Parts: sequence; structure tokens; C-alpha cells
Amino acid sequence: MLNALKPQPADKILQLMGQFRADPRADKIDLGVGVYKDATGLTPVMRAVKAAEHRLWESQTTKTYTGLAGEPEFNAAITGMILGPALAADRLASVATPGGTGAIRQAFELIRMAAPGATVWVSDPTWPNHTAILTYLGMTWRPYRYFDGETRGVDFGAMMADLAGVKAGDVVLLHGCCHNPTGANLTLPEWAEVAALLERTGAVPLVDLAYQGFGDGLEADAAGTRLIASRLPEALIAASCSKNFGIYRERTGVLAALSAPAQRNVTQANLAFLNRQNYSFPPDHGARIVTTILTDEGLRSDWRSELEEIRKGMLALRGQLARELRDLSGSDRFGFLAQHRGMFSRLGATPEQVERLRAEHGIYMVGDSRLNIAGLNRATVPVLARAILAVGI
Ligand code: LMR
Repeated sequence: MLNALKPQPADKILQLMGQFRADPRADKIDLGVGVYKDATGLTPVMRAVKAAEHRLWESQTTKTYTGLAGEPEFNAAITGMILGPALAADRLASVATPGGTGAIRQAFELIRMAAPGATVWVSDPTWPNHTAILTYLGMTWRPYRYFDGETRGVDFGAMMADLAGVKAGDVVLLHGCCHNPTGANLTLPEWAEVAALLERTGAVPLVDLAYQGFGDGLEADAAGTRLIASRLPEALIAASCSKNFGIYRERTGVLAALSAPAQRNVTQANLAFLNRQNYSFPPDHGARIVTTILTDEGLRSDWRSELEEIRKGMLALRGQLARELRDLSGSDRFGFLAQHRGMFSRLGATPEQVERLRAEHGIYMVGDSRLNIAGLNRATVPVLARAILAVGI
């Protein structure tokens, strides 16, 4: 039986991780996978996470099963953080999931159950795993134009022109903030225009919110999602705690589904059903860490200030890189790096230039020229800037 299996295409981002590890050069620089690194190259355990784990270790008396949809305290705390004043409990159903990818996967499956013929519209480009999972599930998806390769900003006119073709019941996948892979984001007035288009067409938004707190701040990064949640009759939100709590390997995420109050219980039951079919109970340790932090004033404020330090550090690196490139090139053509938000920016280099960065300079980025700003530090920024110009970008 198993000899009938065919080789699977490697995930390009994860493949890069392996290539980087195998590279013997001491001065290699990893700007591939989306993981935050501090100035020493370490992905630290956040202070509040350590403290929460310590408390859990002391107080936890059982490892018996949690709720099928996750612990209600976690679901309440995390949806409260995402939706803030836009939270409407009578419309909200939610499940804890294994990370943000788990939330995306459950969202797609929910869409497939509710509307098997729906087309899922994804930005061009988007996180490659969005389209990989959609294809694997046999779902129909279509790209909408999003990124302007010239300005390295959002081509909002093209995006709206393409989305004018959505039908009632189609799903539009939006990145809540810190667009992956481009770093180019919608402004709040643009979010409002998208919400109006969705209202007009009857299409349903699915917001992927994997980087809340990494762009303009915890509240600002949720503003588009909140606007969508308060204006649209139905919305799906897939969120990750991997980055903002730094608990990547704990696999902590949530899928929230907003529907009419009369529909809420059925939606909730379907979310729990999907958990049961796919893995029964969601992972608990990370969810419990997040709950402990969000429900304790001291831990919450310490976590928020560490998250702010991380965010501001990334912004400073963006500014430094844009300045270095301006000084070295004598042009402002890299100014977009300081405008982008989150971990990623798309440089707009050719695959050959990306390959030369790797081969000649030991600098690893994804083939579409997405670079992880959080993989840099003050000392490596000038090295990157010189290499970018050396390969002719
Ligand atoms: C990324 O895009 O690098 C991250 O979201 C990590 C992943 O799973 O691909």
C-alpha cells in the first residue's frame, strides 16, 4: 500500500530552515522562516511565559482532558484580546486549535461543510500554506491582486477590481495585519472599503491574524479585524499565539466564527465537531499559558511591555536597513522597508538574486525575496545592505 505514495513537494519555507542549518559558514544569516530572534540570535521564552509556566507547574493538579472546544477561559481571553470592544458574545463561537495553521485548516473545513461550492479568494501573493491546504482539501480558490511590485505597497485599486467579482457565499481571506509575505498592509479606510464590498456582495471574510502586536501595536493591529467583525453579519477569524507570545512549538491558536445569535450554538457545535474529527482535544499547555498571562494584571502588563520592545526593535531594524540602503545606493528606492510592518518585507528581487545572496553572501531568504526583519540585528543590517546592492537589487 505505502509503495503507492508519491513524493510530496517540499514546503519552501521549511526547506530553507534545513538548508540554513546545513550551511557550515559561521557568518550565515537566516532571514527565512518567520521566527523572532533577539540581538544574540536567540528566540527567547518571554518573561511572562516563564512565570506563567512556573505558576502552572506549581498549581496544576491534573492533566485530564480539557473541553473539546478548548478551555472556555482561554477562548474568552484570546477572543477578548482580538476583538476588544467589537466582541459580541451572542454572535461568537470559538475553538482552540493547534496553532494558527490549525485554525486556518479548521476554517477551511468549516467553509467546505457549510458551502462546498464556495470559492476562497486569496491575496496574490499569500502565505504559501494557505493555497497548499486549500488545494489539498480539494477546495476552489482564486487569487486577487494585492501587491504592487513597483511601489512595494498594496495595489488597492487592483484588489478592489478583482474582488468585485466575488459572489455571495464566497470567502475572502484577508491578512489581519503584517501581511505575509509582503509586509504591505491595508489602511483602516481601505479596510472599511473592503467591509463595504463584502456587505454589498454577501461574501464572507476570513481574517488570518498571526502577528497581532508585531506591526503597529496590539490594538492597532486588530483594528481591521474589529471593523470587519462589527460590520459583517458573518466572519471567520483564525488567530495564532505563536509569535506574539513566542510559544511557537506549543501550537496555540483559535478559530472564531461570528454568525447571527440564533445560529451561534449550531456554529459552535460544528466547530467542536471538527475538533473531534481531526484531533479531539486541542493542545492545552500553550493555551493555559496565554490564559494565565491575559487574566493576571501583572503578567499581562509585563508581557505587553516585552511585546512592545520586540515590536519597536523590529521597527528600528527596518529604519536602519532603509537608511543604510539609502546611504549606500544614493536613492530612496528602499524606503518601503520602513513603511512595511511586521516580520516580513518583500524586497522585489529576482529568484537569481535571492540565490546569489545565499550562495555568495550566506544570506537566506524565501525565493520570492521575502525577508524576515526579525532575523536581523544591528550588526547584520549593514552586511545585508551591502549584499543587496552587490547582487544588483
Ligand atoms: C512563516 O511564514 O515563515 C511562518 O508563518 C512559519 C510557517 O509556518 O511557515
